[in-house]
Amino acid sequence: LIRSQILSTNKDDKGAWTYNYSTIPSRRWPEARQWCLQHFTDMVPIRNKEESDFINDLLPFNTRYYWIGIVKKDGEWIWQDTSEKVPKEAQNWAPEEPDNIADQNCVEIYIKREKDTAKWNNESCRKKKGTVCYATSCRQDSCSANADCVETIGNYTCQCHPGFLGSRCEEAITCKPLLDPEQGSYYCFNPYGSNRFNSSCRFHCELGFQLVGVPQLLCQASGHWNHPVPLCQVKRCSPVFFPVTGNVTCVDPLEPFSFGSRCNFTCQEGYYPTRDNTFTSKRCPALSTPSNGSLVCSDPHGEFSFGSQCKSTCEEGFLLNGTADTECTSLGMWSADIPGCLAKRCSTLSSPSHGSLVCSDPHGEFSFGSRCTSTCEEGFLLNGTADTECTSLGMWSTDTPRCLAQPCPLLAKAPQNGRMNCSHPYSSFSFGSHCDFECDEGFWLRGTQTMTCNNSGHWSQDLPTCQREVDPMSVITISFLFTSQLYSASPFVPCLYPCL
Ligand SMILES: *[C@@H]1O[C@H](CO)[C@@H](O)[C@H](O)[C@H]1NC(C)=O
Ligand SMILES: *[C@@H]1O[C@H](CO)[C@@H](O)[C@H](O)[C@H]1NC(C)=O
Ligand SMILES: *[C@@H]1O[C@H](CO)[C@@H](O)[C@H](O)[C@H]1NC(C)=O
Repeated sequence: LIRSQILSTNKDDKGAWTYNYSTIPSRRWPEARQWCLQHFTDMVPIRNKEESDFINDLLPFNTRYYWIGIVKKDGEWIWQDTSEKVPKEAQNWAPEEPDNIADQNCVEIYIKREKDTAKWNNESCRKKKGTVCYATSCRQDSCSANADCVETIGNYTCQCHPGFLGSRCEEAITCKPLLDPEQGSYYCFNPYGSNRFNSSCRFHCELGFQLVGVPQLLCQASGHWNHPVPLCQVKRCSPVFFPVTGNVTCVDPLEPFSFGSRCNFTCQEGYYPTRDNTFTSKRCPALSTPSNGSLVCSDPHGEFSFGSQCKSTCEEGFLLNGTADTECTSLGMWSADIPGCLAKRCSTLSSPSHGSLVCSDPHGEFSFGSRCTSTCEEGFLLNGTADTECTSLGMWSTDTPRCLAQPCPLLAKAPQNGRMNCSHPYSSFSFGSHCDFECDEGFWLRGTQTMTCNNSGHWSQDLPTCQREVDPMSVITISFLFTSQLYSASPFVPCLYPCL
């Protein structure tokens, strides 16, 4: 009678053990173990109380009881499968056991006994008893070498190592097939098949090409190569330059001045190729910074040499006169002359009328930095700001002033009983104005006949008056009155005419 049961609560969580037992025929301990090893994994060793209880439940009562995988060796009780000593706390002897009877070196378990059930007893190994074995689900060939076999309830699973898949983990993960780089090739070492996990490929470039990137790629467990496929780039030579007295013709099958390029030099009539300088790089004449500006160059092949590019810029207030950018050509000449920086021009100024203008021009007439000062002739006054400056924007800081004639006090009215006739060469009642006076009939002019406004804003004379003329009789009367009433007459009676 052979029966089997599946144990789901196990000694530890890792495994699922299948138990199998037999009572017919009864076997001696060595035969019982042999049977277990032959058909299953081993004899049940009973390592803890749970296993002991489980076995006690599982197995039927058998008058001869059952052998378990524990024996005495060198005076110690050991687990036969591992040869470990059974620790005291794991031992589950029936009372009074184990006894020291000679030859009782094997252990039986009392299954479903009325007394001391599931307890152990030492017995002679030659006695015949029931057999109880266990089997693990995992076998050597359960999974491929790329997996760990893990016991599950009643079975096992293959836990794949990184880089493998499949039920037995026999299949290596694949990476995308590699493409041959242009002008290059690669060879691979493929431990698990081409383009599979741990395939490693090394790249090479053809002659004249250089590898750009990582030369060796590995197919990772993620299914991706660890680096991008490298490139093969044509190797470049330094550019050749045109000899001054000759010519060069190049044929470039791939790229200019690169692997495979051929250049043919020819000399002008009367010139012969020389060993040394003929083929060396041609420099362009050195450039100097434009005055009032700056020059910035990039020189891929040396200062002011083929391929050098220079850019001119001007300081504030200056304008570029020409082309900003120039490049050193293969002929050893600049593509454009270095420009000048010209000061920005302001509008042309002229002297104010009745004045003059004096300028200083550090960067050219009426240009950025020019300063001009206006002055007025005598008799004229400056109206505005005397100084102006040409700014960096090309504009004058202030307008030029005007020269206005110096004003004299206004002569509002002609003298009473008289007339005034004025002329104003510049502006009314100002420097240069002059006025003539005349009196009406019967009046005579007392004071100047002509007044002139001078350059300091003053009239040359006081304003005249017109005096009434008197007949000789009234002069007598008045003078008489004067003499007779010298003290009683009003003091305000003026002496209108020279008294006789
Ligand atoms: C128990 O052993 C017998 C005989 O070897 C076998 O036929 C049966 O399949 C086994 N049971 C299990 C669960 O392995
Ligand atoms: C045990 O697992 C293996 C692998 O997963 C499977 O092929 C087999 O059918 C399973 N056996 C049982 C009895 O479930
Ligand atoms: C994969 O290759 C690495 C070295 O490149 C090695 O250490 C590792 O053992 C290899 N793995 C397998 C499963 O072959």
